[in-house]
Amino acid sequence: MSQLDYHNDTLTFGGQALTAIAERFGTPCYVYAERVLTEAYTAYRDAFASLDPLICYAVKANGNLSILQHFARLGAGFDIVSGGELARVLAAGADAAKVVFSGVGKTADEMRMGLEAGIHCFNVESVNELVRLNQVAGEMGRRAPVSLRVNPDVDAQTHPYISTGLKDNKFGIAFDTAFDVYREAAALPHLDVVGIDCHIGSQLTDVTPLIDALDRLLALVDRLAEAGIVLRHLDIGGGVGIRYTDETPPDLQGYADAVAQRLAGRPLRLVMEPGRSLVGNAGVLLTRVEYLKLGEAKNFAIVDAAMNDLLRPSLYAAYHQIVPVVRHAHLPPMKVDVVGPVCESSDFLGKDRTLAVKEGDLLAVLSAGAYGSTMASNYNTRPRAAEVLIGIDGQPRLVRARETLEALLANERALLETH
Ligand code: LLP
Repeated sequence: MSQLDYHNDTLTFGGQALTAIAERFGTPCYVYAERVLTEAYTAYRDAFASLDPLICYAVKANGNLSILQHFARLGAGFDIVSGGELARVLAAGADAAKVVFSGVGKTADEMRMGLEAGIHCFNVESVNELVRLNQVAGEMGRRAPVSLRVNPDVDAQTHPYISTGLKDNKFGIAFDTAFDVYREAAALPHLDVVGIDCHIGSQLTDVTPLIDALDRLLALVDRLAEAGIVLRHLDIGGGVGIRYTDETPPDLQGYADAVAQRLAGRPLRLVMEPGRSLVGNAGVLLTRVEYLKLGEAKNFAIVDAAMNDLLRPSLYAAYHQIVPVVRHAHLPPMKVDVVGPVCESSDFLGKDRTLAVKEGDLLAVLSAGAYGSTMASNYNTRPRAAEVLIGIDGQPRLVRARETLEALLANERALLETH
């Protein structure tokens, strides 16, 4: 991760000692570095510059308002999947005309919200959704801009839970039926067919499947044009994978060049929806060791962050590096499972890690900027962690206060009287 360095054996991120961050904001705490967000965004913008793409940051990766605002200021659009995410991006000052609305289950209310706001387009995933959107738009006296999410039946070769472009996934319109569905869409009076999109999976470290999917989409674009359905944009879905440990992320420029070569001479605006690669390595989860529990079979470092804060290890057996915030020269390293206090055996952040730690130490769980805080829950009635953004000026700012127990209980009602 860039911006992460030891100075005199103390880990700094974005120029700030993580010990000072923990002291001031407590743990567990997500810490993000604005500089890394900017670097990641400009890497996309520069690599794809010849295509002048609309880069729609996938809000689900990290929806903190300060991060959305930062990307909006850099000129980004947004990929949203719910009315909640729409409210979020609008609150962050997004330009609605740069918002694409993905997801298989949009409700009529969410469609109304999108139409009211004037979003760029709805990425539609089924015929029934088209019919509903047509009806909602008609009732509002509007035309809904539509792109069809086509499922190209390409194996993304990533974890099955985050692979989305195969025939047996719930996502998208089957490639073989897509041409007919486009014709149905074009015949509906309150829809404006503007684009095509796909998303085959996340954390891809090889771009070959992405390019295969693009080729399939372009063949369909040509067939549609012959039938008089001329599309204005092509959305290649999510971004490339990142380095968590020893992965080699694809070369962005190589990917961009391959896309540019295929789009050359076509009047198609490029849209993309990167999430993980814009925020993943811009964040760490800071946690404190509460107890060391040394046993015959295993040693455990029981920390104050848990699966409710960072679900990826439990859900996907995902690997996040875990490093000490203060390096002890004279403490012997030992093998530990880094686990949380939640009552589940799957509550771990890392297994069999070699660490020199003692109780009270701080640990940093790396590459936690994407799908970390957004997948957090209140399981075991644990308040959600604080989030801190270290600005370009090196100053840390609290961008999400630690959830209070009052807020956590606020929507619940006890039955005061029984009948
Ligand atoms: N567009 C669509 C329609 C998506 O479904 C996704 C991610 C993205 C864009 C962004 O993809 P990215 O650039 O982040 O690869 N929770 C999982 C990842 C789930 C991804 C779901 N869709 C994880 O923690 O690995």
